[in-house]
Amino acid sequence: MKALALDFEARTLDWGELDPPEFYASRDVLYRVHEVGVCGTDRALASFQLGAPPAGEARLILGHEALGQVIDTGAGVKALNRGDWVAPTVRRACKPPCSSCARGRRDLCVSGKYTERGIFGLHGYFTEMAVDAEEDLVRVPLKLVDFGVLVEPLSVAEKAIMRALAVHEGEPRTAIVLGLGPIGMLAAMALKARGYGVKVQSLEPADHPRAAILRLQDIPYEPGLTGSADIVIEATGSTEAALFALEQMPPLGVMVVLGAANGAGPVPFLRMIVNNQTVVGSVNADGEAFRAAVEDLARFDRRALAALITRARFSDLKKSLTGAFSVAPKVVHVL
Ligand code: BGC
Repeated sequence: MKALALDFEARTLDWGELDPPEFYASRDVLYRVHEVGVCGTDRALASFQLGAPPAGEARLILGHEALGQVIDTGAGVKALNRGDWVAPTVRRACKPPCSSCARGRRDLCVSGKYTERGIFGLHGYFTEMAVDAEEDLVRVPLKLVDFGVLVEPLSVAEKAIMRALAVHEGEPRTAIVLGLGPIGMLAAMALKARGYGVKVQSLEPADHPRAAILRLQDIPYEPGLTGSADIVIEATGSTEAALFALEQMPPLGVMVVLGAANGAGPVPFLRMIVNNQTVVGSVNADGEAFRAAVEDLARFDRRALAALITRARFSDLKKSLTGAFSVAPKVVHVL
């Protein structure tokens, strides 16, 4: 089968031929990959900024956002059947499992020895077929198949929102999402669905096509960073934006940092102390966040969801990974 892989020795990104995946454990599910999404992490991988191939190999098949349809199931698989639609989770437990991985929270792995499909040490889904254990898959109902490929990026936003609500000491009502990328837009949709007064702020101009998708759902978009809210979800990748938002946060404010990875700056500790403010980091997502993503997809505006996605051919994947940024929030390649 065809697969798009990074070669860490030759420093190339190329298509290759691969044997179909092995399907042997009783909890295994074999599925055909139908759609794959591309995100900033994939683009960073494609320029060798992060990632690692499986132990003993030079190549890593990329891809961690996927939607597939079950072809076959092992004898021990309980809840999935041939024909079901599934979205895989990304992270797999460290071995031997740390305390978090042992209780099923690989997103909270404390050993740092976890693996991630298509990112760290495990092949991903930019190929035709895949095998995962049942516990690593979430079922996507038939009525959501058109949007099932969004389950993974939405799960990242879901976990961030759960984190914010878990630590907020008051009654949060307002939220600001920083960043007009797919994670930011999906986070805004999830906050709106929970009844929060949410707006999105970013650097794109007010008439940007992505802002129009937010307006479809009555989510205001403001170019530039101003003001603050009880909950701030940072999905910009900009440390300046995160620190600026921190300076503006109201008492009890909680900021979840998702993207501001590179950079440093002064943290207003005194302001945070006297105002009981919290900054939390959040990476990846657990089964609960993936299931929350499926539930939210069912209640989001279908027109807005459709507008988030631009579909392209599987054979054009390389272009999405190395070419110019797309105006469309999410480029999805169809096999
Ligand atoms: C994925 C996460 C992953 C992170 C870092 C993100 O793009 O959605 O699952 O943990 O990259 O590898």
